[in-house]
Order: sequence, then C-alpha cells, then structure tokens
Amino acid sequence: MVDQTPTELIMNTILVTGVGGFIGSHVAEALLSRGDAVVGVDNMNDYYPVSFKRENLQLLSRHPRFAMVEGDICDRSLVRDIFDRGSISHVAHLAARAGVRPSIADPYIYEEANVQGTLNLLQATVGRSVQNFVVTSSSSVYGNSTAIPFREDDSATDRPISPYAATKKATEVMAFTYHKLYGLNVNVIRPFTVYGPRGRPDMAPWLFIQSAVRGGTIYKFGDGTTRRDYTFIGDFTTGFVNAIDRAHGYEIFNLGNSSTVSLNEALEIVRDVTGRELVIEQRPMQPGDVEITNADVSKARRLLDYNPSTSFRDGMGTFFEWYRQTRM
Ligand SMILES: NC(=O)c1ccc[n+]([C@@H]2O[C@H](COP(=O)([O-])OP(=O)(O)OC[C@H]3O[C@@H](n4cnc5c(N)ncnc54)[C@H](O)[C@@H]3O)[C@@H](O)[C@H]2O)c1
Repeated sequence: MVDQTPTELIMNTILVTGVGGFIGSHVAEALLSRGDAVVGVDNMNDYYPVSFKRENLQLLSRHPRFAMVEGDICDRSLVRDIFDRGSISHVAHLAARAGVRPSIADPYIYEEANVQGTLNLLQATVGRSVQNFVVTSSSSVYGNSTAIPFREDDSATDRPISPYAATKKATEVMAFTYHKLYGLNVNVIRPFTVYGPRGRPDMAPWLFIQSAVRGGTIYKFGDGTTRRDYTFIGDFTTGFVNAIDRAHGYEIFNLGNSSTVSLNEALEIVRDVTGRELVIEQRPMQPGDVEITNADVSKARRLLDYNPSTSFRDGMGTFFEWYRQTRM
C-alpha cells in the first residue's frame, strides 16, 4: 500500500481510460505510486472475464488518490462530466476494443468504442488546460509492411488490413486534427504485443501458458516461422509514463522490445518456463494475421528514454510465476 501523499505534493490529475484492463491498470498503478492522482474510467465490458478487471480495480482502489468512474467513453455527457468535475491535467487513453480477429467478426463495436470514444475524449479537451494527451494505437497499423523493423513514418500504416487496425489508424489521424486545430499535445503510442502479469487472456502468451498447464491443445497458426516483437509490461509501462510526462506537439512512438521471437521459439520458451510438454496442432494462418511485427524503437529511446530490457524468456518466467500464484 502506498503512503498517503499530502495534497500539495500531488503532481498531476491524470485521466486513465480503460483503467480496469491490463495495460491501463499497470499505468494507473505506476502513476499512483509516484504521487499522481488518477481518475479512471472503464465500462467493464465482458470481452474477457469481468472478474479479472474487478481484481485490477481492487488493487487500485487501495490508493487514496484513485477515483473510478464506471461508464462508457461513447457516452458524450459522461465524458464531458468527467472533465467538468476534475481538473484533468493529462489523458492516458487506453480504453478500446482490442484484438484483430474479433474485429473482423464485429467491426461495428470496434468503430464505436475506438473511433467515437476517442473523438469524445478529444472533443472534451477543447477549452480546457490538458497538458498532454496520450492515445494508444497499435502495432497492427503496420499491416504486412515489408520495411522491417517498423518505423513510425512508414506509409504502410495508410493501408491497415483489419477493422481493428483501421480504427487505430483513425484515432491517430483524429488526434492529429485536434493537435492542429487546438494545439493539443498528443503522443501516439503503438504497442507491440504487450504481455506479463494481469495480461489479456485472449492473447497468445496467456493462451500458451493456460494450455500448457491444463494440457489443452495449442493451435499454431502457420508453420511457426511468423515472428512477434513481444514487450514486457514493466518495460512498456515505464515508456508509456514517460510519454505522459513529455509533451512534444504531435509525435508517434513505437513501444516494442525491438527484437523478435518466432512462434516456434515462443512455444519452446513456454515449455521451458512451465515445465510442461505442449500439445500443438497446426492450423492455417488466420485472416488479418501478419507475418512479422518488429519495432524500431530508436525514436522512443531518444525522446522518451525508453529502454526495454526484459527478454521474452525472463518476461514469460515472471508472467508464469504470477499465473501460478493467481490462476492455478
Ligand atoms: N496488449 C497489447 O499487446 C496491445 C497491443 C496493441 C495495442 N494495445 C492497445 O492498448 C490499449 C489497452 O489494451 P489492453 O491490452 O490493456 O486491453 P484490455 O482489454 O485489457 O483493456 C481495455 C479496457 O478498455 C475498456 N473499454 C473498452 N471499451 C470501452 C468503452 N467504450 N468505454 C470505457 N471503457 C472501455 C475495457 O473494459 C478494458 O478494461 C488498447 O487501446 C489496445 O488497443 C494493446
């Protein structure tokens, strides 16, 4: 439990959207720990078990400087009310429908939460003294770019290959408009497969560990040579918090690890850290899947002092330890 900080030492009041989720809860925890006040908003949707989100909120609610609004960022009056009630100095916008494959099945809920929701937040900043707005995009905007590693100025991001990626690109563009029209400082973050304790149960690192411990089948899409840039949540959160602190006008940053792991290597690591034999079944590649994600993080290193240092093997070890203690 963090010590109570006298009011005069509170640094900022930061609105964290998607605070019940994986990354939002880590970012909020880091901000609270250093003395910021956090107003969290989340609609607690059931994309994955709501009980996981409630557990995340329970951790945060121990902090005296945490206030929670349970509601939807698509609700314009709710969003305006949040800004009316608290003097929000910064916005860390993480609320979204996440995931590539489900966005193909139901693109409408993605457009609503990701595009309209972001627009509501941007519009609510107009005429207020918000110092910096961090909007979370995704590495999926790079689609099947062949310019490896991906750089922020890659024009392949104009050609997203899933509804999810298209909504994320739309939020980047919309945020630029608010920067241009109203001088809003915006940092766009493109995360690369973030994993670790409290991780998302629909993502590969979680599914691999879960199947390993339960003896379930792991579906390997493709021949295992696809490569991913996996980013440990601790490294990511440090970079994200630095992006909240540093206003640069309008900038886009990759936050990845910068090295890649093939699917076959990832499965070997899962076998090693869990100590279990894996049951693997090969399936064809899925629509919307990409061959490789790989971040060039030199811009984030330069402007955000970003320094990812956790290998996938070490990060998965930490993740498995958390999983063992909380989920087994
Ligand atoms: N985890 C990753 O590897 C990754 C990769 C790329 C991008 N991102 C982006 O990072 C952000 C956080 O992702 P995460 O992995 O923590 O996902 P998450 O699903 O755990 O968190 C998102 C949270 O937003 C909330 N939310 C969704 N729609 C909402 C709405 N309309 N109003 C209020 N709250 C809403 C959800 O209930 C959830 O708690 C998202 O914007 C996601 O697109 C994540």
